[in-house]
Amino acid sequence: MGQLRQTQQSIGLAKAISLSATAIDGIMAGQSLTQIIEDLPAQERPIVQSLTFETLRQWRGAHQLIKEYVPKAPSQRLDHLLSIAIVLLMQRQINMKRGYPAHTVVDEAVKACDASVQTKHAKGLVNAVLRKISMAITELDQGPNKVTKIDVGGGYLPPWWLAQLKASYPSQWKQLCFHQSQHPPLSLRINLSKITRVAYLELLAQAGLAYEEIPPIAGHTLEGALSLQVPRPVTEIPGFTTGLVSVQDAGAQLAGLLLNLQPGERVLDACAAPGGKTAHLLETANIKLLSLEIDPHRISKIASNLARLGLASEAHLIKQADAALSNWWDGQLFDKVLLDAPCSASGIVRRHPDIPFLRRENDIAQLQLSQRALLNSLWQVLRPGGLMLYVTCSLFPAEGEEQASWFEANYADALRLESIGQLLPAKTHDGFYYALFKKNGS
Ligand SMILES: C[S@@+](CC[C@H](N)C(=O)[O-])C[C@H]1O[C@@H](n2cnc3c(N)ncnc32)[C@H](O)[C@@H]1O
Repeated sequence: MGQLRQTQQSIGLAKAISLSATAIDGIMAGQSLTQIIEDLPAQERPIVQSLTFETLRQWRGAHQLIKEYVPKAPSQRLDHLLSIAIVLLMQRQINMKRGYPAHTVVDEAVKACDASVQTKHAKGLVNAVLRKISMAITELDQGPNKVTKIDVGGGYLPPWWLAQLKASYPSQWKQLCFHQSQHPPLSLRINLSKITRVAYLELLAQAGLAYEEIPPIAGHTLEGALSLQVPRPVTEIPGFTTGLVSVQDAGAQLAGLLLNLQPGERVLDACAAPGGKTAHLLETANIKLLSLEIDPHRISKIASNLARLGLASEAHLIKQADAALSNWWDGQLFDKVLLDAPCSASGIVRRHPDIPFLRRENDIAQLQLSQRALLNSLWQVLRPGGLMLYVTCSLFPAEGEEQASWFEANYADALRLESIGQLLPAKTHDGFYYALFKKNGS
């Protein structure tokens, strides 16, 4: 939300509310926000993304208020406009310095009706309801029970999803839901092949940017990881454009470490776009890397990521291919394989709060089958003695522990090395599953 005030001048808050309501309409119809904002002009994207995501993160809190203050269930369009405005009002309550004044939010939400809802009645309703809610928020904030009635930390999870979390994590699910509805930190990975941690921290200090250390994750210290205390657009992060640093969640940075890469090794990154882990692997050691990606649209992102980091080289090939087949393979075995498998993404909901609105329960069984097809196929291209790292950004055991156990049971030559297993989301990192297998033989 920190960026909202800066970008306001470029498009105006009423327009941003209206575009964000349209984006939420699109999400409810099954489109991801990433797809939706690709069609917007570049200057409109940051504010629409920020407003939309924050509204989805606070969905339950906003709807508790709509239910309480709107006499008759509003149309979908009006519901989305109101939710966005309510979240802006709640934001003000959480952090006075960052949010818009309440009267601005109300006026701009009413103006946003012009562009979308258009009836006089709707404008009157938005005005009256938001004024009442604004007063209620202020009273609660000043009253003896500060903010106890409004659940400001509540994103939406479909009932089947919540039931799975409760069953899998009976004593932790509430904490998980809390972390997943929080604004994520802006986490960075220093490119240690170009600059030391100490030298990069000096650059941050010169730019006047405060950072936070990332404590060890599951016993692993991540030398390149840190998070900024206040999020910034990437162009304002020292060394971003010159490839000294990348934006990447700290939990994702474990992949580069667990594979224990050695110079000269042949490595396969089987599901590579947009290339966050590809880049990390190349920063970690001088390896021969092949990156595969099935999606022709996403594959171009790998090359542009590597070009920014100065990591493009002849020792790194990018191929569009289905890693579950073998028609891309030249017959030479790999020393290491990274399988960052397509999954529900249920562990990264705070960064992609549209995911719970898009997933369906039967997607999980389908994803499980795809992951098994990939595990089956990639095991064939690993040399005896080599390592395969299976990763998902999921919290569902069907995509994590169940898969690792299935794999061990089916492959007599697979030895599961002591690894992380399920990493639950926390303040400093998202949720992931990691299993590391060694292929017996030499
Ligand atoms: C979790 S994302 C990978 C993220 C990436 N490793 C990173 O760190 O930036 C999974 C990727 O696998 C791709 N994918 C899905 N099925 C695939 C397949 N059968 N073969 C190759 N790529 C696949 C998806 O298009 C998606 O880009």
